[in-house]
Amino acid sequence: MEVSLDGKVALVTGAGPNIGSGIALALARYGAKVACNDVQLDAAKAAVRRIERNGGTGLALYGDVSVEEDVVSNIGAVLEAWDRIDIVINNAAWLHTSHILEEDLASFSRAISIAVNGNFLCTKYAALAMIERGIRGSIVSILSSNAWQGAAGFIAYATHKGGLANFVRAAAMDLAPYGIRVNSFTPTAPRPDNPELLAQWRAEGRTELRPPRAARADRPAWWRDTGTYDVRGQIPMGEPATPTDIGHCIAWLCSDYARLITGCDFVVDGGARAKYWAYTPNAEAAAGPVPLIPLDVTEDTDG
Ligand SMILES: NC(=O)c1ccc[n+]([C@@H]2O[C@H](COP(=O)([O-])OP(=O)(O)OC[C@H]3O[C@@H](n4cnc5c(N)ncnc54)[C@H](O)[C@@H]3O)[C@@H](O)[C@H]2O)c1
Repeated sequence: MEVSLDGKVALVTGAGPNIGSGIALALARYGAKVACNDVQLDAAKAAVRRIERNGGTGLALYGDVSVEEDVVSNIGAVLEAWDRIDIVINNAAWLHTSHILEEDLASFSRAISIAVNGNFLCTKYAALAMIERGIRGSIVSILSSNAWQGAAGFIAYATHKGGLANFVRAAAMDLAPYGIRVNSFTPTAPRPDNPELLAQWRAEGRTELRPPRAARADRPAWWRDTGTYDVRGQIPMGEPATPTDIGHCIAWLCSDYARLITGCDFVVDGGARAKYWAYTPNAEAAAGPVPLIPLDVTEDTDG
């Protein structure tokens, strides 16, 4: 029994070097041909180079997922290249930190437009292409813990991720009669593992994707600071997931083994989200999971 996406064609939006590239690589390693969209063409090209280094087939596409013509043109390019589309991963988002008292309408609307309009447009046009070809495909929206819980400083992000949690269920109902499945995946601050990204961080002296931001100097006297985050120490199994872990799960979810799974959310987080809110795990005492099965078999030469 082998999970295989052989013969399938995928589109991953926002295929930047962290989660998008990881999912794109996974789909390719499991056998799919993968189109990598990004509003930064260089990021899409880097994701394709990574796929090709690992023996897969990719296609880099420039496109803003919130712009209808770009989405139509991206889907058209996929169909022109490979004549079908079986899988869409709605991954593009603007991880925009914003406190409700400091957020402005333009940023709030932009963040929501990328996520919500992007998911809507990519799902709609990909589903139409699948239906025209009789393809019973799989669409996955990438959410966040902020879809399910409140965290200070993420008002726009929490709004669109939370909205998408129910977009997935509603789209699953609309598309169920066509055999098209719609699910979500909820990452929980995975530890990046793209060798190219890690090499870049080493060169820049960085250890985290988003280092804590310095406090603003212009805050009013009445400002009250919010709490802090510990994204590495709250994991019952003692180890954060990686984009590779996410990729394995999504590849399986997009395979025919998952043929009746629709309207569901998936998480790979060592128990982080199942945890009772007041419980702090002793991560250091945990045996840890079994070793990760790698997907990027190229050398991390800088390491
Ligand atoms: N990194 C995390 O800790 C984390 C946690 C939970 C959820 N997520 C979610 O996972 C997904 C990927 O996260 P990431 O950390 O890899 O993000 P990232 O910011 O590194 O990558 C997002 C990519 O989307 C692209 N993009 C932005 N706007 C776009 C648009 N309008 N059209 C097309 N592309 C666009 C960006 O250029 C970038 O390459 C996002 O949906 C994010 O919200 C991330």
